[in-house]
Amino acid sequence: MTDRIPLLIDTDPGVDDALALLMAFNDTRHEVVGLTIAAGNVGLKHTVANALKLCEVAGVDVPVFAGTAAPLLHPSPDAGYVHGQDGFGDVGYEPAKRQVEAEHAALAILRLSHEHAGKLLLVALGPLTNVALALKLDPTLPQRIARLVVMGGAVTCQGNITPAAEFNIYFDPEAAHIVFEAFERIDLADWEAVVAHGLHHDRVVEWLKAGSTRGQFYERISEKTRLWSIDRRGDHWHAADALAMAFALEPDGALDVQARPLSIELEGTHSRGATIVDWRRQEGREDRVAILMQYDQKRFERLIRDALAASPA
Ligand code: BDR
Ligand code: CA
Repeated sequence: MTDRIPLLIDTDPGVDDALALLMAFNDTRHEVVGLTIAAGNVGLKHTVANALKLCEVAGVDVPVFAGTAAPLLHPSPDAGYVHGQDGFGDVGYEPAKRQVEAEHAALAILRLSHEHAGKLLLVALGPLTNVALALKLDPTLPQRIARLVVMGGAVTCQGNITPAAEFNIYFDPEAAHIVFEAFERIDLADWEAVVAHGLHHDRVVEWLKAGSTRGQFYERISEKTRLWSIDRRGDHWHAADALAMAFALEPDGALDVQARPLSIELEGTHSRGATIVDWRRQEGREDRVAILMQYDQKRFERLIRDALAASPA
């Protein structure tokens, strides 16, 4: 029997997802009990293959469960232009030898929530399709989750995929609505927090030179997106899922967290997928979402550096 915190990660790898996964694999206080895979950054075929490959490179034996290939209601464009068409920088890696599990991701979320009832830390790093589907199958899911951390949203509507919306929420707003209505408490790392916690490209390059197998692989798959980021966004790289994972793994690194009611915009000519935060509590709804405003930057960078330097288990 282990006293490590069971950690289930729903993810759409994705270059920043991969960094977050390496951080989780490197954390001795948590045990990653599964990766449930969403479509998002790129199609499900690629996100599953990428998850399997990352586990192989990292030398971890974590089960990988394929989820739902499309958003619940409306098709949505992917982010292959940021992450590479295969989601891992189009470097042509040799596919992993290991296979995906037969169980669907939504069913795996439910099963693992029973196996680790009251203890499970669920971290969602992609569109919330799989978690929403699990909730539709079993609305009692939140009762068994100790903590849900989500990377998503733009809390003053300064989005990245549209002027108002952030990618993960915009990709499947109906799923996000289901999840945000169902959980009484969600810890949120939104896009605007990510922008406030940029990583200087020069530092990232130094960390990547650590020479570990994990770091070398990560240097290859992240090169395209880092160059894109320098071109489009300047000196700092915004590794969204890595910040959410830091908040998940070491919550005491959070220096400012504001709890507020939050709604997902499902309609709107310009606002579909926006996260509407009731900052002044005008609607009298509960403060269900704990929004990360500031995280200890040194600790965030240390978690990344250590994850990139770590040797396979
Ligand atoms: C989020 O969208 C994806 O492109 C990233 O992997 C991250 O989860 C940032 O908006
Ligand atoms: Ca992601």
